[in-house]
Amino acid sequence: MKLRTARIIERLNALGEISDSKNCISRAYGTKAHTASGNLLIKWMQNISLQTYRDAIGNIRCILPSLNPNAKYFIIGSHYDTVFNAGKYDGPLGILLGLEVMQYISENNIQLPFHLSTIAFADEEGARYNTAYLGSSTISGHFDRCWLNRTDDHGVSLKEVLEANGGQVVNIDSDSIAREQLLGYFEPHIEQGPVLCNEDLSVCLVNGIASQTRVDVHWTGINGHAGTYPMNHRNDAFCAASEFSLAVEQIGKYNSDKLVATIGKLNIMPNTPNVIPGKVEHTLDIRSKDSSFLVEISRTLEDKAIEISKKRKIGLEWNILHSTPSVQCDEGLNQLIRNGMKKAGIHKTLEIPSGAGHDAVMISRIAPVSMLFIRCQEGISHNPLEYVTSEDIEKSLEVCDNFVHELIHQNS
Ligand code: GLV
Ligand code: MN
Ligand code: MN
Repeated sequence: MKLRTARIIERLNALGEISDSKNCISRAYGTKAHTASGNLLIKWMQNISLQTYRDAIGNIRCILPSLNPNAKYFIIGSHYDTVFNAGKYDGPLGILLGLEVMQYISENNIQLPFHLSTIAFADEEGARYNTAYLGSSTISGHFDRCWLNRTDDHGVSLKEVLEANGGQVVNIDSDSIAREQLLGYFEPHIEQGPVLCNEDLSVCLVNGIASQTRVDVHWTGINGHAGTYPMNHRNDAFCAASEFSLAVEQIGKYNSDKLVATIGKLNIMPNTPNVIPGKVEHTLDIRSKDSSFLVEISRTLEDKAIEISKKRKIGLEWNILHSTPSVQCDEGLNQLIRNGMKKAGIHKTLEIPSGAGHDAVMISRIAPVSMLFIRCQEGISHNPLEYVTSEDIEKSLEVCDNFVHELIHQNS
């Protein structure tokens, strides 16, 4: 176990060295660093003789086949893209735990009653195109072709990036996996919150994932001279966006028992000290455990934006990028995780919902899903200070091994 844990840490560090920025970890979808980290994953998968390939969108997929050609697939997965200024563990830890489990099974010639696959999803964070789940949407057959025309902050389209990396748009549909072929999905992931630290536990079960809506909001006013244009006659797009951002905070705080709302990315144009901003584009990310409440709040916020746009005579575009209802993890798979935890000597089993989004959300559309959370120091994530101890990695590996062995046993 110690050697396998050390290998995971070595690989986390190796992936953490691959970044588009000299100063921090950044591997947004389709960048040089993103492609290089995918290549490294391919090398590791091939070194353990797994059938390995990169699909059109850039998911890195490997399979350890069952002797039964008609067997179903069981997938372990997580993502290899990152946010800007990321930590090393969000995404890669789940992939590397999957690879360790597969390597153990392969080296010990354990017969599989299902095809076991690990998928490193190409894009979960959506840092480049503001979308999320480009990778797992492809697998679940929910890739929206409109996304291909989306452009990044430099005007480069998703289609261009996909093709530059060797992907073919025509293959996206055939990269999906049919529901009938799937036994289930398991995603080990850092918790990204403080509960495990407070409970002094290495791991816990995830019982569900919150609903989430992401919106692209564009405000269009009129550029003007900052020194000459009178205050009462301006059409300042930034002031409209600012008024809206405070309304988002106010509505979020008022409903803080069941809502989080964030404007995390904003471009102000022309972004020049002496020009009244004529255009502002920003994201809106809202989440709730209660899917119907989230739909209601999304409408309330859109109405608020319309009201501000009319009052300030600023154009508004409201484009919902994705909207996913809350997800329930599968009770049958959960029971196998509980058994796996007990066998690993964990007798206090905690079960919590995830406020963060995960690829499991998209895969839940085609298969029963399950998740294991692993403690990260002080719950810090999306931050270079993200950290998981080697003891917790070892414990999570033990649970992952046990879980897959339980699954083999159940299906043999
Ligand atoms: C992923 O990290 C998300 O929840 O946005
Ligand atoms: Mn993340
Ligand atoms: Mn993640």
